[in-house]
Amino acid sequence: MFDLMDEWGPEKVVTVNHQRSGMRGVLVIDNTSRGPGKGGTRMRPDLTVGEVASLARVMTWKWAAVDLYQGGAKAGIRFDPASPHKEEALRAFARMLSNEVPREYVFGLDMGLNEADAAILCDELGDRGAATGTPAALGGVAYDALGITGHGVAESVDAAMEHCGLDDRRVVVQGFGAVGHATVRRLDELGYRIVAVSTAQGALHAPDGLDVTELLRLRAEHGDALVEHATGTRLPAGAELTLDTGVLVPAAQQGVIDAGVAGQVRARLVVEGANLPTDAAAQQVLAERGVTVVPDFIANAGGIIAAAFGMRDRYSPFGVQTAEIVPTVTERMRTNTLTVLQSAAEHGGTSHEAAGQLARDRVRRAMELRGQRPTPERMAL
Ligand SMILES: NC(=O)c1ccc[n+]([C@@H]2O[C@H](COP(=O)([O-])OP(=O)(O)OC[C@H]3O[C@@H](n4cnc5c(N)ncnc54)[C@H](O)[C@@H]3O)[C@@H](O)[C@H]2O)c1
Repeated sequence: MFDLMDEWGPEKVVTVNHQRSGMRGVLVIDNTSRGPGKGGTRMRPDLTVGEVASLARVMTWKWAAVDLYQGGAKAGIRFDPASPHKEEALRAFARMLSNEVPREYVFGLDMGLNEADAAILCDELGDRGAATGTPAALGGVAYDALGITGHGVAESVDAAMEHCGLDDRRVVVQGFGAVGHATVRRLDELGYRIVAVSTAQGALHAPDGLDVTELLRLRAEHGDALVEHATGTRLPAGAELTLDTGVLVPAAQQGVIDAGVAGQVRARLVVEGANLPTDAAAQQVLAERGVTVVPDFIANAGGIIAAAFGMRDRYSPFGVQTAEIVPTVTERMRTNTLTVLQSAAEHGGTSHEAAGQLARDRVRRAMELRGQRPTPERMAL
């Protein structure tokens, strides 16, 4: 476990082992120099401590990159989420972390956990604020129903277009799930022309623009099979990435744009709705070709900005103040997008490097101010 530790963290790792249910779990509090640890809680049968530690580190950078005062943390439960004994495992996990939760860490949703599970975690600790992501009937808020991540992706597109002086408002969106469909909905409101969308079942192309109202209606009816029913030319999934367009939004899966695909992308602006859709080689190729890229953890941060409301309001008798979420996400996404693109332009390199540097600088500064960094004398030893 010491191998996981470096100059940033983790500050604390707690492992638990519950014999009766077979549940094993871990809480990793990575870096709390900017605020208390916050990140989702996941459950899967093959979970590892290393996986949770690297996700906790990602949260440290994400909170800092979007400039919110939370620290990086993540919790994981090694257990089958489909088991009939899930509740017993959840209750044991919460109980065994009662020293840390909610003062140092607050549970949240991630793979394998749903709103009802968040309610159980709060119940076990007798504390309404022990988890975010609780059902609306308990004062929580359904982020996915709000489509807040996609809303933020669209705002990021619009801010980047303005900043770069681009005027080709044709957009291709890969993926029409929680993120993709909400991105399309908001871009349509902002006056963009959606020329292609895709799901795992294929892509749809219409150079004059797809009918967004029809797409949204067909998604509600057929899910991913909407591509079989909507008006437009059918293409194999993946072909949309290199179509003639002004903007490309990969919002499906990681690793879809490698250096080869990056060389063929025709968009002038790529806004990453999905996590890790480009690799470092692709980012380099895109930068060399003058394509502006808004990195994933800037562009898809709408959900974590909304989660910060969940944190702030989790003890409020008024519940989470949803009316404040959308305007705040809009404002934050636009500011963060500009900050990163300006920083990339000033310092050279890719926008991913600029975003990473910005996050590290903020965390380093917080650690210095709190006296957490080794003194120069100690460093010299
Ligand atoms: N949901 C969120 O709030 C959120 C927040 C931040 C990041 N993300 C990231 O965004 C991405 C999408 O998440 P989601 O929640 O929308 O998932 P989802 O499961 O709701 O939707 C995924 C969509 O992508 C499509 N798809 C899958 N493979 C494809 C392929 N090869 N070609 C074209 N389409 C394909 C699916 O058919 C589906 O329409 C993931 O990388 C996720 O980690 C999601």
